Amino acid sequence: MPIKLEHVVPWRRSMWEYAHMFDLSEAELATTKILGVGDGPASFNAEMHQRGRHVVSCDPIYVFTGPQIRSRVEGTRDRMVEFTRQHHDTFTWRHIKSPEEMGAVRLAAMERFLADYESGMRDGRYVAAGLPKLPFADDAFDLALCSHLLFLYA
Ligand SMILES: C[S@@+](CC[C@H](N)C(=O)[O-])C[C@H]1O[C@@H](n2cnc3c(N)ncnc32)[C@H](O)[C@@H]1O
Repeated sequence: MPIKLEHVVPWRRSMWEYAHMFDLSEAELATTKILGVGDGPASFNAEMHQRGRHVVSCDPIYVFTGPQIRSRVEGTRDRMVEFTRQHHDTFTWRHIKSPEEMGAVRLAAMERFLADYESGMRDGRYVAAGLPKLPFADDAFDLALCSHLLFLYA
């Protein structure tokens, strides 16, 4: 079934967040073949590319254009910040200090992603594909990362 953008909340994290969430060492970040599954508008791929490293990201929303993804991200931002405000005490605020800062950090990640999206698409670093079937050969990657997808989508 084709993905509908209005069914997706494309929240997006930075390379720093990926590295900390997955407890990735410098050696692991230097792993030559990394696959990011459901990366959406996260800036992990863009930031790794800037550091001369190679990541392939796959996500069904990559059938959409940058402006379409931007409009969905901007359209869901206030709702997500408000939701987080309402559930403030269920989050830890060690790194990001407030829901407002979180909204700003997320938008900054999207901007980095969008600045890289067209050229990354041409390079084959962004691939429009989704679980459960991915168009990659067995053993094509050394490390696969999947952030905030498996327990959010049915
Ligand atoms: C909450 S966002 C997380 C984005 C990014 N991983 C991050 O942590 O910043 C979930 C992402 O999963 C993607 N997604 C939804 N269904 C998917 C599927 N079947 N396979 C891969 N990705 C999917 C959505 O398009 C969306 O970009």
